[in-house]
Amino acid sequence: GGSGHVTDYKFSFEGPFGRYDQAQLQRGLQVYTELCSACHGLELVAFRTLADPGGPSLSPDAMREYAATFEVFDAELEDWRPAGPTDHFPESMDPNAPDLSLMAKARAGFHGPNGTGLNQLFKGMGGAEYIASYLTGFTDDVKEEAGSFFYYNHVFPTNWVQMAPVLYGDDVTYADGTEATMQQEAKDVAAFLMWAAEPGMMARKQAGFVSVMFLTVLTVLLYLTNKRLWAPYK
Ligand code: HEM
Repeated sequence: GGSGHVTDYKFSFEGPFGRYDQAQLQRGLQVYTELCSACHGLELVAFRTLADPGGPSLSPDAMREYAATFEVFDAELEDWRPAGPTDHFPESMDPNAPDLSLMAKARAGFHGPNGTGLNQLFKGMGGAEYIASYLTGFTDDVKEEAGSFFYYNHVFPTNWVQMAPVLYGDDVTYADGTEATMQQEAKDVAAFLMWAAEPGMMARKQAGFVSVMFLTVLTVLLYLTNKRLWAPYK
């Protein structure tokens, strides 16, 4: 048992200079749309963000067209209408399926020896690794308990999960021609969910880098100033 089997997948967004891979986020959006959205919501994500730079970066037209494939209930119209850019993805269709908006931040990769979190720091292992590993972590074992089916998953912490395996390979035909192996689909949707949970990751890393540079320069300047100020008294 336990979530000790999370694979250290390589993602483009790891490390201090990591960036989301636009093509991968678009493939992940396709996997989410065609497979996961049947059960899982993404209710904190607004459609307009799909066109933001640094994300899947759909063109504004493609984003509007995509949004319009969903329906939202409009309280003013007292009726359903096609979703627009400022609307959010729907909530989960299956009441047992958790919303995936923040899932990539709610789950962690293997924490390293004694739960120290060191693997997260040094190997960049986090929620995206967990999700990709989880989606590829099913065996064929199924059990029925109190009228519900449970599926064996060697990554899910308690091993028996109420979600049936979804990915087998060739479950989607990628718009960009990428071969849709099970692992490819799993990594792509995991990357997309990482972006959904943390769309500002790249800006955060950039700000962090600028701060470290700034502090480095400031340290050097203070050192030199200090030397100069005290020079007459030596
Ligand atoms: C749970 C992802 C498709 C139903 C989960 C979890 C994730 C996830 C990350 C949480 C696991 C955890 O708590 O650690 C996905 C992705 C999908 C997908 C990325 C598409 C590739 C589906 C579909 C259904 C479904 C199609 C319904 C037929 C559920 C349910 C749970 C769940 C009921 C809760 C299971 C439990 O806590 O026992 N899913 N899922 N999922 N999913 Fe999915």
